[in-house]
Amino acid sequence: MLGLVTTPEGKAPMELRELPEPQVQRNETLVAVHAFSLNRGELRSIRNNGEGWVPGQDVAGVVLQQAADGSGPPKGARVVALTDEFGWAQRVAVQSHRMAVLPDSVSFAEASTLPVAGLTALRTLRHGAPLLGKRVLITGAAGGVGTLAVQLAARSGARVTAVVGRAERAAGLMELGALEVIEGIEKAQGRFGVVLESVGGASLAQAIKIVEPKGTVVVYGNSSGEQTTISFADFRGAPNSRVQGFSYFYSEAEDRFAPDLALLASLIADGSLKPQIGVERSWRDFGGVAEQLRDRRVAGKAVLLID
Ligand SMILES: NC(=O)c1ccc[n+]([C@@H]2O[C@H](COP(=O)([O-])OP(=O)(O)OC[C@H]3O[C@@H](n4cnc5c(N)ncnc54)[C@H](OP(=O)(O)O)[C@@H]3O)[C@@H](O)[C@H]2O)c1
Repeated sequence: MLGLVTTPEGKAPMELRELPEPQVQRNETLVAVHAFSLNRGELRSIRNNGEGWVPGQDVAGVVLQQAADGSGPPKGARVVALTDEFGWAQRVAVQSHRMAVLPDSVSFAEASTLPVAGLTALRTLRHGAPLLGKRVLITGAAGGVGTLAVQLAARSGARVTAVVGRAERAAGLMELGALEVIEGIEKAQGRFGVVLESVGGASLAQAIKIVEPKGTVVVYGNSSGEQTTISFADFRGAPNSRVQGFSYFYSEAEDRFAPDLALLASLIADGSLKPQIGVERSWRDFGGVAEQLRDRRVAGKAVLLID
């Protein structure tokens, strides 16, 4: 089978190569991958890994072989799945409890946006529950996690302020449910019950200054790579507010992956969640698509199709 393999010393960061078939464990389902999506974190991992690694966490496709222990969906089922790595290949073995069957109306491309970005949007917002009537500010709102979080927060009754880096990145965010879109967190007015913060640096410092008393800043990324200096005085206007670190992978128990993926897929099926696929191309175009994502030119998610 073919897979996308890291080639740090090569001309391109990744290249398509012939690979051995996956070794399938008893509790794993073999999936024929039809689509996968890229995550900013994976671009970093590609740089940090040596020669010959196959990344890939977000996959959607068809079950080729049910797990030998009888767990997971049967052969032929259309599924979305979260893998630790190896997903950017024609076939991947996935632990059966990390996948969900797709409703017929949900495409593989749409489903592939859900594992990392969808789970992150869903689970970061849970730190602010209940959201009904709450002001929620979302940084990086035009990105993969951001475009899903804006929709989930709005659907939960939150009043959403979406933060983007420049004017053209605001396109479509009001339609997704944002009450307002601002260019830069420093333009935010008033205080927020929840802030989803993924930019870091000055953005995180400001997030702490605009959270409500007892409100929560969920820190789930550092896209800028910048450091933040904070002091006790920054919390003066919001006594007992919290800064909550977040990792989508460890945030909830292992057995919650399948139900959460199923929930997200069902929201797409009923029309209340519309994954924003800014770029959808063949996986042969990986290099160009990765560059667009790195340069903040993808509105929502970048999806690659295995053709
Ligand atoms: N902790 C976890 O479990 C977890 C899970 C998923 C993702 N993450 C992290 O969360 C962040 C967002 O993920 P994502 O997949 O949504 O990424 P993405 O699609 O690349 O979106 C990131 C957004 O951040 C904004 N941004 C602002 N300043 C930036 C800067 N200096 N460099 C890059 N982007 C900047 C960009 O929007 P503008 O161009 O409008 O400014 C971009 O739309 C990433 O850092 C990712 O690694 C963490």
